[in-house]
Amino acid sequence: MGTTETTPAAPGGRSAPASGAAPGPQAARRWVRPLRTGRPGAARLVCFPHAGGAANSFAALSAALPEDVELLAVQYPGRQDRRAEGFAEDIGALAAGAAEALADAYADRPLFLLGHSMGALAAFETARLLRQRAAVARLFVSAARPPSQDWGEQDVDALADDEVVAELRRLGGVPEPLLRDPETVREVLRVLRADHRALRRYRCADDAAVTVPLTVLLAEEDPKNSAGQMRDWARHTTGPYGLELLEGGHFALTERGEAVAPLLARYLRRDLEGAAEGSPGAAADAPPSALIRDILLGGLRGRRPALSTDLTTLEDAAREALEPHAYGYVAGNAGTGGTGRANRAAFDRWQLVPRMLRDSSTRDLTVRLLGQRLPAPVLLAPIAAQEVVHPEGELATARGAAEAGLPLVLSTFASRSLEEVARAAGDAPRWFQLYFPADRALAESLVRRAESSGYSALVLTVDAPHFGYRPADLDAAYSPFLRGTGIANFTGDPAFRAGLPEDAGDAGDADGLAVVGHWARICTDASFTWDDLPWLRRLTDLPLLVKGLLHPDDARRALAGGADGVVVSNHGGRQLDGSVAALDALPAVRAAVGDGVPVLMDSGVRSGTDVLKALALGADAVLCGRPYVYGLGLDGQRGVSHVLRALLADLDLALALAGCPSAAGVPAGTITPSGPLPTVSEQDRTQR
Ligand code: FNR
Ligand code: LAC
Repeated sequence: MGTTETTPAAPGGRSAPASGAAPGPQAARRWVRPLRTGRPGAARLVCFPHAGGAANSFAALSAALPEDVELLAVQYPGRQDRRAEGFAEDIGALAAGAAEALADAYADRPLFLLGHSMGALAAFETARLLRQRAAVARLFVSAARPPSQDWGEQDVDALADDEVVAELRRLGGVPEPLLRDPETVREVLRVLRADHRALRRYRCADDAAVTVPLTVLLAEEDPKNSAGQMRDWARHTTGPYGLELLEGGHFALTERGEAVAPLLARYLRRDLEGAAEGSPGAAADAPPSALIRDILLGGLRGRRPALSTDLTTLEDAAREALEPHAYGYVAGNAGTGGTGRANRAAFDRWQLVPRMLRDSSTRDLTVRLLGQRLPAPVLLAPIAAQEVVHPEGELATARGAAEAGLPLVLSTFASRSLEEVARAAGDAPRWFQLYFPADRALAESLVRRAESSGYSALVLTVDAPHFGYRPADLDAAYSPFLRGTGIANFTGDPAFRAGLPEDAGDAGDADGLAVVGHWARICTDASFTWDDLPWLRRLTDLPLLVKGLLHPDDARRALAGGADGVVVSNHGGRQLDGSVAALDALPAVRAAVGDGVPVLMDSGVRSGTDVLKALALGADAVLCGRPYVYGLGLDGQRGVSHVLRALLADLDLALALAGCPSAAGVPAGTITPSGPLPTVSEQDRTQR
């Protein structure tokens, strides 16, 4: 039935006794049960149970929490010690009761709200009601689809008792002995049916949103919910959004307290520390350019940045520090390097025309892309085989990206599996870059794995049906892939293994020749054409971008084939030497696809002003490529983090100095080809 919420509520069962002094007013005592007091000043976590559940559903989670967390559980009417009261009519009534109680008795500290399954909707509505009345620090929603989505719940009232019990068994959450006890089952079903009526009555507008950070908790084996379905939660907050994957099924939150508690505690501490530090540099809402002040103040204490803030110099630093073959693989271009140079030269050929006295006291770097909100118009480009430059490879990159809140676009040819990287990324946004393999089952498997690991967009790269002619690699006779680095997404994939002899070695045993040989045969499909794109489009609901095109007609064909947007790129000059600079291809692509279609670009972006130029020429966002990989090679996660922070600081300042306070609305007139400015009358035509 795909329906059910379950309950541990035994008849006459009691919620855990209130500990500590009973809080003030009556409503608070009825609605809120302190399951765990924590030490004085503990972070306050408020939990909302699932349909059929009760306050004591969180007993296991509560027991596993550390001393610095207090757990309050909401007790809905109609069950356990509130059995004499009628059930709530709808989710709104649950939220109203909880909000009232929390505002009255618990608003002296920031509240972290956590709702499980149906409780997620109650927590979401409670957060909205509390907006003016209490400080909500974060909303966690577990095992729950977004409020505006159809939950596809069946009418439990229309099902026979034994059908409902069968579903309870399937989902887990109620111990088997209780399910065998007729009295318990009667009570469970009574509560469950009432809660389901409230759930089915619930309606939520598409744009109803909280203003706090929102974290979705999704268990990997939850039969009712998938990562794809979670994406729309992003619409329901104006703050940061993220997804955390848990091991287990629908009841991972309440049953695997020991695994979930440390994760929650980490969030609570981090949020509270961020709020307490209060220094603009440390606070989450400090502008990125606060880095500049932090660096200069650090100088007073004798500190200097470990890596240069001039990101164009990192290539030289990497040449000194990295193994020659590793440096050659990353820095290397195709052929004579002409396109690599052209990428940079194109940025130099455009100049900014700053405008003055336009309030630049605050800047808004955020952009909306594919329904997702990004803190800045910057993503980390897909770059293969990152273990070549650092042993932690993509894991360190994912953590560095997560610190900045910027999406990592993970390469198909990553040196760590997409699942491992998803775990390292935590709740940070992530996209998956697809090289379409010469095996459709494998293509489907990669896409499904990306979907279920929380990757929220797919980027199909089309400019590398074959590797480019790269003298640096050829002269060193070096390919990371043939040495088993960069094939981690394949070695453990069942569809990939299906094409191998049984004795080809275990997953991870990547240096086996059979494994590498099989990879080399099927890693890309050079016969893939525009006619095949609709197949991929039909395969997934993830937003789909096509990366690596330069011709405006190719951009049109991508959209005609079902893509949601394009990435203008020449692969950083690594593919066809002599091709046009990506920045020079951008305006024509933008003109071809029109406004409103996401257009990203990469290849040659090295500074915040480069980003600004790309935005002014029609990009919605850019991908940062080699600089962060040099950062990774030079200083691991810290190096990645440094590069991203420096890039955003520079961009933030560039927006301010150019008189463009919003990254989402950079006027075309901000940029002009180098040389004398057009006359005033020409400018008037372009300037607004
Ligand atoms: C890449 N790029 C790339 N692109 C992609 O779609 N999948 C991939 O696996 C890789 N791998 C890769 C490895 C290395 C070492 C480099 C440098 C680049 C291309 C990348 O996404 C991006 O288009 C370029 O890096 C942009 O050029 P710059 O700005 O890095 O010079
Ligand atoms: C590269 C491939 C992997 O540029 O995209 O090395």
